[in-house]
Amino acid sequence: MSDQIHIPVTALTGSATLQPRIAVERSGSVEAFPANGRTFYLETFGCQMNVHDSEKVAGVLLHRGYRQVDSPTEADLVLYNTCSIREKAAQKVFSRLGQLRHGADRQLVGVLGCVAQQEGEQIFERAPWVNLVCGSASYRRLPELLAELEAGHRRVVGLDTNPEEPFETEFTKRDNPFRAYVTIIEGCDKSCAYCVVPATRGPERSRASDSILAEVRGLVDLGYTEVQLLGQNVNSYRDPSPRRLSFAELLDAVAQIPGLRRVRFATSHPRDFHPDIVQAIEANSVLCDHVHLPVQSGSTRILQLMNREYTREQYLERVESIRRARRPISLTTDLIVGFPGETEADFEQTLSLLDEVGYDGAFSFKFSPRPNTAALRLPDDVPESEKGRRLTVLQERQRQIQLRRNQALVGSTVEVMVEGRSRPGQWTGRTSSNRVVNFSSPRVPNLGEYLQVRIQAAGPHSLVGEQVL
Ligand code: SAH
Ligand code: SF4
Ligand code: F3S
Repeated sequence: MSDQIHIPVTALTGSATLQPRIAVERSGSVEAFPANGRTFYLETFGCQMNVHDSEKVAGVLLHRGYRQVDSPTEADLVLYNTCSIREKAAQKVFSRLGQLRHGADRQLVGVLGCVAQQEGEQIFERAPWVNLVCGSASYRRLPELLAELEAGHRRVVGLDTNPEEPFETEFTKRDNPFRAYVTIIEGCDKSCAYCVVPATRGPERSRASDSILAEVRGLVDLGYTEVQLLGQNVNSYRDPSPRRLSFAELLDAVAQIPGLRRVRFATSHPRDFHPDIVQAIEANSVLCDHVHLPVQSGSTRILQLMNREYTREQYLERVESIRRARRPISLTTDLIVGFPGETEADFEQTLSLLDEVGYDGAFSFKFSPRPNTAALRLPDDVPESEKGRRLTVLQERQRQIQLRRNQALVGSTVEVMVEGRSRPGQWTGRTSSNRVVNFSSPRVPNLGEYLQVRIQAAGPHSLVGEQVL
């Protein structure tokens, strides 16, 4: 692969089994569809599931003849694929919509994703210039909804709540030329007290293993060497096909596909994280040595209030099974501070868990009360300033831990997939353990290439090294 990156449009047939039909190549593919004279702009907020949904939505639009543009002012159709996980994320969308207020006579505006599902038709009241409100459970109906918009309907709605299958499209416009996302399960059947996702993304539905494997094979044919299997809870995967593969068996099967170098998966829920997943990683070097296992809190009392369905001790058992693996597996997590009722003692337990586990990375957030969640009925009693203090303390503690863990790698040689240039003369990429490595090289490396890099220095968030020839 050269420095020149062409964005592939991956084609799959629309049939239920989705056998791959690699109709378009890495370059020039967008022009392969007859233009309909309309343009769209699509901006995405939120998690990797949303990013990948947008890749599928773009595939639907391109196939329909729309052309993608880089700014909302140039677009006939402006789409926001929204996130509602915390209040700030949801607010961002309304400020974006405010900026479009005056374009109503010349462009159409659509709100997709989690805010769309959560707010429903109320969005039309808050922003009357919006023309389409569509949650992820209705994306299967996008062609039909777009046809209504094209026919002049000005309030088009897709707010289904009980979809039968994951959203798969005939064409997917992948934005990342190195790592291809592949959906294996959508929705969430858990009911964590703080979380909007079960309400916004609907019940869990898994995709047939044959369809997943066919898509990954197709991606390898297109030149991808890394795939990331996606789901809100990947380890709840239940193969609906007669093969009945477990999640660990699916990992094994994906890892066997010739030509793949790296397979990642996210997110794993601690309750269903069984030793067979670690065994699969041990058995297949293609499965990356990284597990993202969100803990949320180190206090069993808070975990119970959160309805996480595990205790601190059960979580630590899972960590133990990962730490015992024959090759080192890096471990990252998500944490929430200031959940209703969280005392200083509970918070101290989260800090002690950080020390005990020694995470390689952590995303941490202040609790944000959300609509349609059980925690909304609890008093949001940790003051904002105290949430802020706890977050700062936690992030500083974690920074020190990461620094120590990264420094332990100085002097070792790691395999890096080149993803870009970090500054003139310096390149950047990732290890299998998902660490960012900035490195120098005696030659100009190709993007997407795998190189050996000797680590010379380490910071809390990245490593610095030089290519070993
Ligand atoms: N399905 C994944 C994560 C989903 S959301 C899982 O179960 O782990 C990503 C992260 O956002 C969560 O892990 C949690 O740490 C955070 N989060 C979710 N709801 C939140 C809320 N109401 N306030 C603050 N953080 C929240
Ligand atoms: Fe939200 Fe919990 Fe489901 Fe994760 S498992 S998406 S945190 S409800
Ligand atoms: Fe946000 Fe929806 Fe993802 S709420 S985090 S975009 S599932």
